[in-house]
Amino acid sequence: MRFPFSREINMRTQIVAGNWKMNNDLAQTQALISDLKKQVQTSNAEVMIAPAFTNLYSAFEALRHTNIEVVAQNMHFAESGAYTGEVSAKMLQSIGIKTVILGHSERRAYFGETDELLAKKVDAALANNMRIIFCFGEELADRKSGNHESVVESQIKKALFHLEYSAFNNIILAYEPVWAIGTGETASPEQAQEMHAFIRKTLADKYGEEVANSVSILYGGSVKPANAKEIFSNPDVDGGLIGGAALNAEDFFAIVNAFNRI
Ligand code: PGA
Repeated sequence: MRFPFSREINMRTQIVAGNWKMNNDLAQTQALISDLKKQVQTSNAEVMIAPAFTNLYSAFEALRHTNIEVVAQNMHFAESGAYTGEVSAKMLQSIGIKTVILGHSERRAYFGETDELLAKKVDAALANNMRIIFCFGEELADRKSGNHESVVESQIKKALFHLEYSAFNNIILAYEPVWAIGTGETASPEQAQEMHAFIRKTLADKYGEEVANSVSILYGGSVKPANAKEIFSNPDVDGGLIGGAALNAEDFFAIVNAFNRI
């Protein structure tokens, strides 16, 4: 195991990413982007939005000279070929997209994405120099039975621990407890901090402290303007992956601005 030199390691950044899921047609996407442009201001955090595939290019064009990055919600692991309905890393890159969300719990639950499949997608994204927001998190039953840490550890290990440490320059982690997604339930700030510290320790045990400290770990699951500041003020929480509240420009920027007041 090689240990890194500090100059090769990124500093971790604060990130707020809006996952629009399967919401907003073209006109609605354009309207929400125009609202976002009215709200945008200098922020401590990197800001990203993930519209649907059909609207990625127009979103990218509309936000080209702003500090809002347009990212994809998913991609296939193959470069091209007979995979009806899928989109490759190269296709995303050809329209300017540099970051992709992988492993969202809805992809795992409704589209059968396994840790093994996600490992292949991770490899494909990295091979194409894309940045990844890698999502994982336990279900309610895991939390109730006290297995939440082992579930999360296994998800991370199976999809990411075959990587060289340098890959972590291009990986953002997003801890999203499934029971908190779209439910209005959030992990308490203490639960979030406890899990994020556990995730960082899991990374440190494998790749060393320096790598572990360089990786941004986002929290996702019912983050709203009212709870963002409390969640983001935890030392190991570096931002949020926002679903429902990202569909309203004012709410989304209230969450982004929660960093500016910390
Ligand atoms: P939510 O979704 O904020 O609506 O809970 C978060 C997510 O799924 O990324």
